[in-house]
Amino acid sequence: MIDSKLRIFMLSLNMIVVLNFGSQFAHLIARRVRDLGVKAEILPFNTPASKIKELNPDGIIFSGGPASALEKGSPRPDKKVFDLNIPILGICYGHQVMAQMLGGKVRKGVHREFGKEILVLKKRIGIFKDLSPRELVWFSHGDQVSKLPKDFVATASTSSCKYAAYQHNNKDLYAIQFHPEVTHTQKGIKILSNFIFNICKAPKDWRIDSVAKNIIAELKDKIGKDHIIIGISGGVDSLVAGTLLYKAVGKQLHAVFVDTGLLRKNEVRDVATLLRKRQFDLHIVDASKAFLSELKGVTDPEEKRKIIGHTFIEIFEETINNKLKKYPIKYFAQGTIYPDRIESAEASSHASKIKSHHNLTLPEKFGFQIVEPIRDLYKDEVRKLGEVLNLPKEMLSRHPFPGPGLAVRIVGEITPERLHILREADAVFIEELEKAKEYEKIWQAFAVLLPLKTVGVMGDERTYEYMLALRAVDSVDGMSADWHKMPPELLEKISSSIIGKVRGINRVLYDITQKPPATIEYE
Ligand code: XMP
Repeated sequence: MIDSKLRIFMLSLNMIVVLNFGSQFAHLIARRVRDLGVKAEILPFNTPASKIKELNPDGIIFSGGPASALEKGSPRPDKKVFDLNIPILGICYGHQVMAQMLGGKVRKGVHREFGKEILVLKKRIGIFKDLSPRELVWFSHGDQVSKLPKDFVATASTSSCKYAAYQHNNKDLYAIQFHPEVTHTQKGIKILSNFIFNICKAPKDWRIDSVAKNIIAELKDKIGKDHIIIGISGGVDSLVAGTLLYKAVGKQLHAVFVDTGLLRKNEVRDVATLLRKRQFDLHIVDASKAFLSELKGVTDPEEKRKIIGHTFIEIFEETINNKLKKYPIKYFAQGTIYPDRIESAEASSHASKIKSHHNLTLPEKFGFQIVEPIRDLYKDEVRKLGEVLNLPKEMLSRHPFPGPGLAVRIVGEITPERLHILREADAVFIEELEKAKEYEKIWQAFAVLLPLKTVGVMGDERTYEYMLALRAVDSVDGMSADWHKMPPELLEKISSSIIGKVRGINRVLYDITQKPPATIEYE
């Protein structure tokens, strides 16, 4: 039996399980499988075979990973997975581990193979069906398989790797030393597709419109006649989660949108306009005074974050106690998405150790049960779902925005004047990026107020005003980031536009620091 927690919002039971031997590799594989139209679920490498069996996947993929199969204590899957009679594809580390566990041998390679290589195919069947005799693939490994287990046969090699691919003579066990999930492997998608469709026979049922229908049906089923509450932040995740809930339970949904006074220009207005169009119980709470007074005189970043977190919960509690008491609320919805869930299950993220991230968790005294409507989706899937739900494109394509809002983008004390300057400058920055069609190329862009005054000259007059830093980064998940290589002409245009339009700033800086060593936000 699948336990009920797992079953809720699993959406479909057809899936490929990706056993995770190294998070980034596993996510990339899962993305590719989903792009091919099949649900992929990432599980820890040591998930018991009995649990995998309960999920009844169509196939299993062992991901690559940073460990060496030759090291003592290196990660191993449950040996019983090989007896489940479910097709398995081992990739890179997964390729070595499969050979080793079934009686073959792994040794240190003479050379490290890193980069593109020509793969010579001996058998163009199974996962290599319809491929050419020679294919360009991408490797990254030091160790290699030196002896195949009994009943296995080599299916491809390279000049320095004899067993670059192998398969079992009569069972559906396949392994490849290279990475089909990276774009440098020219036929990588074809190899994955051969495995998923020809070998696993997985049905192609992971389509975002049917995903939406399934989520709504499951929410309806779970919530029944009870009531549910959600906190809307203005970000994509809570908007999409809220819309799904509205479609599922209509007026049994209570949404609370707290205006912290720390949001971007026009954000409160835009979100409120959108939400008011829908006929659910909406509470827009203007708590900007409370937040500003709690933050008065506070300069320490962690203290700011903690104050904002507490104040948020207090305001939320007050709203529940004053305005929502009469409703039989049983559930509390959160906009958790798939990578959040995988990362927090495996290890708390690096970023969260550096800064106390603010996300709304209500005290247990309310006894609400948590519902996470989009817990199975990646960010771009959430955006596509938003399109299916007819949410405005501008809101869906917005860059991530931190829970503590502009408070962590004003270095030092927060004052109404500083908030005003930052809000205006940030709006000009984003508008210029949009005009230049640069916005969608950037993962996250924003302005930061550095309340340090420097001397300038404007129209023959001396000025003495604040500095503004512009931050624009390229990233995949915010865990690491590179500074965006912005065209210099555009930077110049942005700088003059900000100084021309926003009073209080006479100097604009562009931040060229990567994460690490810096973080994306300033506090
Ligand atoms: P850092 O500054 O840690 O940010 O490099 C990484 C990503 O996380 C966002 N961020 C937050 N998101 N609550 C959030 O939901 C927070 O408290 C928070 N702090 C930072 C940040 O905008 C970036 O995308």
